[in-house]
Amino acid sequence: MKIPNHVGIIVDGNGRWATKRGKSRSEGHLAGVKNLDNLCQYIFDKGIKVLSLYVFSTENFKRSAEEVNYLMDLFVKKFKKDFKTFSKQGIRIVFSGRREPLRQEILDIIDEITIKTKDNQKGILNFCINYGSHAEIIDACKKIVNDSNNGKINIDELDEDLFNQYLYNDLPSLDLLIRTGGELRLSNFMLWQAAYAEFYFTNTFFPDFNEKEFDLALDSYNNRDRRFGGINYEKKDN
Ligand code: FPP
Repeated sequence: MKIPNHVGIIVDGNGRWATKRGKSRSEGHLAGVKNLDNLCQYIFDKGIKVLSLYVFSTENFKRSAEEVNYLMDLFVKKFKKDFKTFSKQGIRIVFSGRREPLRQEILDIIDEITIKTKDNQKGILNFCINYGSHAEIIDACKKIVNDSNNGKINIDELDEDLFNQYLYNDLPSLDLLIRTGGELRLSNFMLWQAAYAEFYFTNTFFPDFNEKEFDLALDSYNNRDRRFGGINYEKKDN
């Protein structure tokens, strides 16, 4: 079984999961968070080293203030809980996204957890919150221009590896990108990092995306022929 190094999940469908059951959207998000608790542990136990979770896009601020506030409260609790669980296991927790307009309470917890887990080596849990890939690339470009103007870097030396270091976090490329909830799009998630990712889309709403469902995604990943633009000479049909 090939185990991907970096898995990304677009956590989608909590609201629709709830509506289908006559529950409020908040109950859906709560069910999504509970599911994440089990799933993250399972994923790290499988030997995956980096897990990126798209839990709030820059565009999600367009939702009602009530939903946004509910989610932010939920995230604070979730981050604190994951810090307790994962820092003991040597997992580093990082966050990707723009700070503005996240509220101070979130920024404080993000900063605290980032610093406290920075030396952990066993794996990385990356929460993408107030994240947008275009914004990430633009922010990186601004920092690069600044460093070039200040003589910190020589622009002729800019290559993929150096560019990657200017992103919110210097993470390896995505190997497997999963989107739950039935939509077939990336919604501005890790466009740079997904250049050669294998995609797995499922209709399952996130609260039902359990260990078994994750194994189906892994099976599918194992059946892919990753060529990275080359040719797999071991396969006759190429
Ligand atoms: C991208 O679609 C999907 C996301 C950024 C995930 C959003 C998930 C939540 C807000 C729920 C939070 C998760 C937990 C565990 C509580 P999009 O909605 O930004 O864009 P689209 O309109 O293209 O689908």
